[in-house]
Amino acid sequence: MTDEGDESVIRRDRFSGGPARGFLSSLAADERIFAADLAVDRAHVVMLAECGIVDDETAGAVLTALDAIEVEGHESLPAGEDVHEAIETAVVERVGPEGGRMHTARSRNDEVATCIRYRLREDVLAALEATLVLRESLADVAAEHAETVMPGYTHLQPAQPITVAHWALSYESAVRRDTARLLETYDRIDESPLGAAAFSGTTFDVDRERTAELLGFDGVIENSMDAASARDFLLETTGALSTLATTLSGLAEDVILFANRGFVDLSDDYASTSSIMPQKKNPDTLELVRAVAGDAAAGVQGLTTTLKGLPRAYNRDLQRATPHVWETVDAVVEATEVAAGAVATAEWNEDVLAAEAGAGFSTATGVADLLAANGLPFRTAHEVVALAAEKSAERGSANNASGDEPRANGADYDAIEAAAEEVLGEPLETYADPAAVEAALDPAESVASRDSTGGPAPDAVADQLEAARATLADDREAVDALRTSLEEANAALREEVNAYV
Ligand code: ARG
Repeated sequence: MTDEGDESVIRRDRFSGGPARGFLSSLAADERIFAADLAVDRAHVVMLAECGIVDDETAGAVLTALDAIEVEGHESLPAGEDVHEAIETAVVERVGPEGGRMHTARSRNDEVATCIRYRLREDVLAALEATLVLRESLADVAAEHAETVMPGYTHLQPAQPITVAHWALSYESAVRRDTARLLETYDRIDESPLGAAAFSGTTFDVDRERTAELLGFDGVIENSMDAASARDFLLETTGALSTLATTLSGLAEDVILFANRGFVDLSDDYASTSSIMPQKKNPDTLELVRAVAGDAAAGVQGLTTTLKGLPRAYNRDLQRATPHVWETVDAVVEATEVAAGAVATAEWNEDVLAAEAGAGFSTATGVADLLAANGLPFRTAHEVVALAAEKSAERGSANNASGDEPRANGADYDAIEAAAEEVLGEPLETYADPAAVEAALDPAESVASRDSTGGPAPDAVADQLEAARATLADDREAVDALRTSLEEANAALREEVNAYV
């Protein structure tokens, strides 16, 4: 069936009763918007009564029927092409033909668009709350491990020592932006299309601001054609979730790698074992978190492809747009919650981390910085330290061949001294105090010396942590305010309805 003549039972019987009936129907998937549709129906009927478009008695009968339908639940709805049609049929079954007045001055087109936005606000709030919990876990790890040195990598090669706090706050910063993106997206979801009717408005003198208010929307989408057609808010939401999922996948990958190297132990709650290898403790939860980036990317891809090239105004393709979003939001919220739990309960092995922090001559940059600070051009200093690294590597493999212990840190004072002599033709002491070189070689000292804004030094990290906590508190307040305003709107709508039932 089409929306033209939607109210007519005859038209309903005439169309879509054939073999394509199931193909046309979104009723099962619409369970997701069952509660939303009831709210939208209630707000619409209250507004119709207030505007004198239906009388109070009819409004009361319809609103009473909606309450009964709610109690019976989505699974008890009569057959229908979708939840909107099924609820209307159920109302008419209870109220009689007068119940058909519920659909005055609207179409399923503005109705479904309103339902999606109404429901999506809840889902985005859940996503927002999950990001806040994750950020809190990361901030707590940072607070506990401000001085826990660990290796930092680029290209997965040991690069420079950092701290666990610095690592954790790097992800907190990223997820902070995910929160911000979702908050911005929320504002664009939070506008009411209701009253746009099929796409070109209605002859009835409806009050669109009033239904928007009753549903707790921040305002209306004015242009009725845009209101019925627009789905960019879905793309934006899925995009923001996909960005979050991509952040999570990196976080998960890091922790998987850290678990592999013995840097971190996952709590048993977030690990699995093998069905055959009894000793195994596998980071499966984080592997699944990592994989959810694929689900989210699929959501973006599926949705974009569905929306691409759709003409104005409503086209039934839109019915298949929303499932991409629901699947994405469910997967990403769950992944965010699991990531938060895994991070919050993991144990960092400080001894292993300390032993590995200087591996691969990871303090080399600090030594070069020291020589440069004492007057050598940085490029020359780089050359000296590179040669020291090379000499140490050779000596390391010679030691290995002779059965000696391999060198833990990759380079020591002697190697640097020899390299300085060779490159500069002058003793190392000309450019650096031996004690300062030894200090630069020490991972903890190396970390402490990098105290530029945003750096890993404990005092620089303390500033970052303070900023993280402050923004987290602000964001929590913003999210709580959104949640409260939805709850208040729900309560207010209930009160309006109670005046009729
Ligand atoms: N089930 C439809 C959807 O999800 C509702 C709108 C149907 N409108 C129409 N003109 N057939 O998009």
